[in-house]
Amino acid sequence: WLGASAALSNRPPVTGGELRSAVPLPPAFQVPLPIPRVLTPVDTAGGVDRYAITQRATTAEILPGVSTPLWTYEGTFPGPTIESRRGRPVTVTHRNLLPVPTVVHLHGGHTPADSDGYPTDLVIPESWGNSVHTGHDGHVMHDPRAVTSDLTRDYTFPMNQRPTLLWYHDHRMDFTAPAIWRGLAGMHIVRDDAEDALGLPAGPRELPLMIADRAFAADGSLDYPSIDRTLRTKPGVEDPYVAGVLGDVILVNGAPWPVCEVDAARYRLRILNASNARHYELEAVTEDGRRLDLVQIGADQGLLAAPITHATLPMAPAERHDLVVDFAGVPVGGLVRLVNRLGSGRTAEVMAFRVAREAADDSRVPDVLSTDLPEWNRSQAVRVRDLSFRAGRMGDGHGWLIDGRPFDPARTDVTVRLGDVEVWRLIADVHHPVHLHLVGFRVLSRGGGAPLPHDAGLKDTVSLRPGESAEIITRFDGYRGRFLFHCHNAEHEDMGMMANLEVV
Ligand code: C2O
Ligand code: CU
Repeated sequence: WLGASAALSNRPPVTGGELRSAVPLPPAFQVPLPIPRVLTPVDTAGGVDRYAITQRATTAEILPGVSTPLWTYEGTFPGPTIESRRGRPVTVTHRNLLPVPTVVHLHGGHTPADSDGYPTDLVIPESWGNSVHTGHDGHVMHDPRAVTSDLTRDYTFPMNQRPTLLWYHDHRMDFTAPAIWRGLAGMHIVRDDAEDALGLPAGPRELPLMIADRAFAADGSLDYPSIDRTLRTKPGVEDPYVAGVLGDVILVNGAPWPVCEVDAARYRLRILNASNARHYELEAVTEDGRRLDLVQIGADQGLLAAPITHATLPMAPAERHDLVVDFAGVPVGGLVRLVNRLGSGRTAEVMAFRVAREAADDSRVPDVLSTDLPEWNRSQAVRVRDLSFRAGRMGDGHGWLIDGRPFDPARTDVTVRLGDVEVWRLIADVHHPVHLHLVGFRVLSRGGGAPLPHDAGLKDTVSLRPGESAEIITRFDGYRGRFLFHCHNAEHEDMGMMANLEVV
């Protein structure tokens, strides 16, 4: 079973068509890199940080001279960043001024089920008022759990977890991909004293970078294929929606191919791939063609045990890489491009760093970064499960299925016992980044062999390559209740590749 063809697994991701923007695109490295503002709590009484976020439509100038309608958290894309301390609970009250219901999920959060953003636990648009029973969304009507009279929803996050970069995004059943595409995504950083004491680059030398591709229609709106067409698409037909939607513009923190002025010093780059479907292989290159080391210090779920130096680093949707890059050897005035080796033409560029000045640097990358990584082993596992991630029929069209079934909120797919260690063997037909809610996991094997260097550390998303299998191991700790696992190609997720995980 584990022998799934290694020969297949070096194929580039199957990505289907890339949408072409119908407006003129700006030259690269002109727009300064924006940093999303850090949200201020409305209240910190009782040791709880309380935040309020309004989801609303707005218009922004993403491409110079082009006005683009967006759906946002607090009026910006990305939404504001939330900064938390480990163990200090956070409550976020969401209010929905958008025309559709929404769901908020904190990706990578170790969160109780009732705040985890189950795809039918909706934040109802305020404009619907009490008419929710006759609203225009079929899913709302069919799921009694969704019927609520609350026009806001409180999400509570205990934050009992390793410090890392999380992100919050929409998660409504069947409509997650277009909602994220329109702008419903933001970052959430968890910190603790141990990490602060390491001496890593910090303050202005720590940059959160949300990478996401988009395409723009002639009227400036974000182009997105229509659901109607998708439902008519038959299995085997290449369709941009079926493969996952790709755009021809690479945004970092919502700006096209931005440039960031840096000191000739070490920087901590906290990179999130928030793209719906685009995979990257990142590389930092100087003008004279020299490659800067990507020193990885952390993965999805926080610090590695020790740094790992990469020349290039693959990145699937929803993954986070915590990197240190040293610009010290670059002459003042020099440009370092962050490139995407899987792209072509303009999608091969991500952003650039302009080294502006010499500067002192007292940061360091210690040889030991953390000592609390869980080291589960096979002999602890009470169970080994096989789960397949493959294309198949859904209704009369194309679906993406887990073990042959599309997502059904009324069915429990996997039941695990709180505290149990399990090994899951995942197998994919094409590229599928598989994500588990609630827990982090370790990658035990890939393609029947050892994990790859970028599988190190504690993960919450593992990038399965075409025809490839991987084994992951985790302990289901924390909370009982109903959680999810799914493919994080957002279109695959909407087309059924999601399942219920019940912790009992
Ligand atoms: Cu990033 Cu189920 O989500
Ligand atoms: Cu997938």
